[in-house]
Amino acid sequence: MLAEPRLKTYQQQIDARLDALLPSDSEPPRELARAMRYACLGPGKRIRPILTLATAQATREQEASLALDWGCAVEMVHCFSLIHDDLPALDNDDLRRGRPTTHKVFGEALAILAGDALFALAFEVLSTSGEACGILARACGARGLVAGEVEDLEAEGKDWGADELVRIHHRKTATLLGAACELGALSSAASLTLRSAVREYGQALGMAFQITDDLLNETANSEQLGKAAGSDRDRKKLTFPSVFGIDESRKLAEEWRDRALSHLAPLTGDVQLLRDLALFTTSRSA
Ligand code: FPP
Ligand code: MG
Repeated sequence: MLAEPRLKTYQQQIDARLDALLPSDSEPPRELARAMRYACLGPGKRIRPILTLATAQATREQEASLALDWGCAVEMVHCFSLIHDDLPALDNDDLRRGRPTTHKVFGEALAILAGDALFALAFEVLSTSGEACGILARACGARGLVAGEVEDLEAEGKDWGADELVRIHHRKTATLLGAACELGALSSAASLTLRSAVREYGQALGMAFQITDDLLNETANSEQLGKAAGSDRDRKKLTFPSVFGIDESRKLAEEWRDRALSHLAPLTGDVQLLRDLALFTTSRSA
């Protein structure tokens, strides 16, 4: 990850807060709590809640005490989506974050239900703010994450082109990263103009992030990724490398990254970490 000391601190704060927000191992039904904790506390990058914290920092109009909880809510939605994405009915993957997928450890029924409960818990965490609920709901529903996942499945083996590809990646990945950023700005009571700027930053960064994810699926190995490499090609997924090839996809990822950076222009606070995170999206190796 990045050599930025703030990131380690943020990751530790996020993990400690997730640990506190999730049901404890001893809370019945224990298997449900264990499955939720397994999926959520595994070794992920925590890029979405880090974006929420970094955006709150960069737009701070008021002390941002809510950003940590709201970032954790986004991570819960992300983890729900990973559990369901890995199920046999969807992408049927056995490995995630370097460990067996949730359904491999707890069975399919519990994996589905742990995902459902994480989704609900995310909105419980946001429930003191109707606006925050709206931001996350819009990003993950039938015009966001779920729509993107449906079209991602539909696109397998089809001869769909660049427009569909951009729409799918925007919905399945970029909307949630945009929401992570907008929630950070809302938590520090930033203006609508700044909220929109950071949403655009997060969405552009999300496009660069997903194109890089496509590239890594093609070029890295499973040990590096902690999940199956080469699976997109095996399933005939519609990806940037499948439509544009490797070199052109790299260029496009860099273009989205630069677009993300340009959206930071109206911000007057400390944007260094947001800049570094944008650069990290295209240079990452996992
Ligand atoms: C890896 O994130 C995941 C993505 C880049 C998003 C892919 C989109 C989906 C799986 C959508 C699924 C949607 C539904 C509704 C099932 P990451 O590299 O940040 O993973 P990490 O948290 O393990 O680091
Ligand atoms: Mg999928």
